[in-house]
Amino acid sequence: MKIIENAENLSQIRGGALVPTMGALHQGHASLIRAGAASGRPVLVSIFVNPTQFGPNEDFARYPRTLDADLKIAEAAGASAVFIPTADSIYPSGLANAVTNAAQFSLPAIATAPLLEDAIRPTHFGGVCLVVSRLFDLCEPSLAFFGEKDFQQLRVITQMVEENSIRWKSLKIIPCATIREADGLAMSSRNQYLNPSQRISALGISRALQSAANCSSATAAEKSMRETLDQHGLETQYAVIRSEKTLCATEVGAKSARALIAAKLGDIRLIDNARVGITSMNR
Ligand code: PAF
Repeated sequence: MKIIENAENLSQIRGGALVPTMGALHQGHASLIRAGAASGRPVLVSIFVNPTQFGPNEDFARYPRTLDADLKIAEAAGASAVFIPTADSIYPSGLANAVTNAAQFSLPAIATAPLLEDAIRPTHFGGVCLVVSRLFDLCEPSLAFFGEKDFQQLRVITQMVEENSIRWKSLKIIPCATIREADGLAMSSRNQYLNPSQRISALGISRALQSAANCSSATAAEKSMRETLDQHGLETQYAVIRSEKTLCATEVGAKSARALIAAKLGDIRLIDNARVGITSMNR
């Protein structure tokens, strides 16, 4: 497996399968890398903790940085190369300009209309779209893999690529299923922040999603999710049923509904989601 630090050396791997990450790799990332390898293309994993997608009071400074372990996971999962850019190579005009560019990024509607992550982290998707666009331009992949765990992010990037089909004409975004621990907790780099009792409480999130799956109306599902989160001592930021396509409430139809949750345990913020078979909006 090659380690690429200089963007000029990316030419060796153009047209491959890109797995963009911020490091702190876990089996969720490994599954994206394996899906990339199964495509038959060389897999390039990027590792860059992107400062522009963190808000001022978020966890950029303490975000886990575990490069040695990351390289082992990437190689074992079948990566051909890992791209570890410097901040200067991603943002050559400096971080202050990058923050402005992120704030001015022309975002797809799904990054601003749903009032989910966009409402709670207002600068987040500008930073995500900025860095992902830069990675697409530098790496020129033909496939890029993103997990469903960050469902709004997946939909934002998919819509951004659809709306820029001339710029990225041969690029396809491949969604990959969320990978869970045996007890149901969705794998996330931020799970490392949980202490043992928070780790137990965090199970309330996947249980809340399961409870929503047993409801037939959106109203009942949202109520049931909130109650389950409360019972586990989680602070609900949102627990909603939305259309998978638009992430808005008005267009939910059978077979296209998704339950989405953001909840906090102290200052640790976790998100998760699942498809649900809601047949009535009944709000
Ligand atoms: O999902 C992530 O890890 C990040 O948001 C991404 C897509 C790598 C952009 O920094």
